[in-house]
Amino acid sequence: MIPGFTSTGSKRPEALFGDQRQVPQRMLRAKGCRVWDSDGREHLDVTMALGAVSLGYGHPAVQQAVEKALADGVVGPLSPVLELQVAERLCVSIPGVEGVRFFKTGAEAVAAAVRIARVHTGREMIVTCGYQGWHDMFSNSAGVPAVVQRGRCEIPFNDVGALREAVPNDGSVAAIVIEPVVDGPPSREWVDAVNETRARSGAVLVIDEIKTGLRLGWEGASGRYGFHRDLIVLGKALGNGFPIAVVGGDRAIMQAVTRTWISSTLATEFVSLAAADAVLQVYERENVAGHLAVVGRRLYEGLDRIASTYHAVTRAVKGIPEFCYLDCVDDATSVRLAGGCAAQGLIFKRDAYNFVSLAHTATVVDDILQRVGDVVDSLASRPA
Ligand SMILES: Cc1ncc(COP(=O)(O)O)c(C=O)c1O
Repeated sequence: MIPGFTSTGSKRPEALFGDQRQVPQRMLRAKGCRVWDSDGREHLDVTMALGAVSLGYGHPAVQQAVEKALADGVVGPLSPVLELQVAERLCVSIPGVEGVRFFKTGAEAVAAAVRIARVHTGREMIVTCGYQGWHDMFSNSAGVPAVVQRGRCEIPFNDVGALREAVPNDGSVAAIVIEPVVDGPPSREWVDAVNETRARSGAVLVIDEIKTGLRLGWEGASGRYGFHRDLIVLGKALGNGFPIAVVGGDRAIMQAVTRTWISSTLATEFVSLAAADAVLQVYERENVAGHLAVVGRRLYEGLDRIASTYHAVTRAVKGIPEFCYLDCVDDATSVRLAGGCAAQGLIFKRDAYNFVSLAHTATVVDDILQRVGDVVDSLASRPA
């Protein structure tokens, strides 16, 4: 048995489809933007492994690089040359990144960014906004010691008053950890307040670009919206499905990592580094972020048209063009929407983001919109 659920919570069948039964539960394989479930049935996918894949499943350049890494033995007693190569690419391409360290998951990398900030500032308290993963320091779940929970203050997105209150001028806050997009873009006032609070307090500003990194271009969400970059955290798109995440940023702040203990046996196995190296080269060669912005806008605007037509089903489209979802009027309706889409052969996230990829052409997006529109139309004409 597998108690609970191993993968990210958003892939739980109930998270995807509620309590419905006639929906895909497990999958066999994926290619481009299509997946085949355990019955061999083909589905069009717009969740893209919750944003972990931006080039399409099984992208040939990534596949080839990974096959070479496998043939090269995967891991050994010394750090691989590939680590330097990927670090160099990141430092050259991403503004403000002068040094990097590699990790396997987003939560691990954000936790490392916090450790680095604590060492750099000699302070302990952290202020967080958005989702950072399951680790103790970011969670109030059962089993997290109260003393750990007291080391963090969580504030709502775009809430300038809460931010100012959470970060006093007493030199106690080590890091302000911000997810830059939560249900929509940050307000101008929020970005200005985050930057001003960082400068006033001396806290390290960590921009968690796990979802936005690469996807929004080399400058990420911090560049698009104007957040200062002390440290950024990348993951998801960087590995196109392979487990790799990065903390990068200001040279002096990154140097603090040498005064603490951050260590992981498989942090530099070749396969994920090779995948990241290939992904970065595809982003260098092709205008991937430009493509995601264009097809993403097509999806976002199409969903917006649906939302503004069917008020009985959905209130609005949430997110930004690169990742978005339909905010349904209630949970039961969102369950019926996702179930209806699955019946149409479309895996469509109901209450969290859908992500376009390089494999989503304008034609594919129109196909998705047609299927979603048909389902929403039938829900509107057949209320529960
Ligand atoms: C903004 C952000 N930070 C951190 C994480 C955690 O990443 P992981 O699930 O790889 O630990 C996620 C995961 O969705 C995320 O969206």
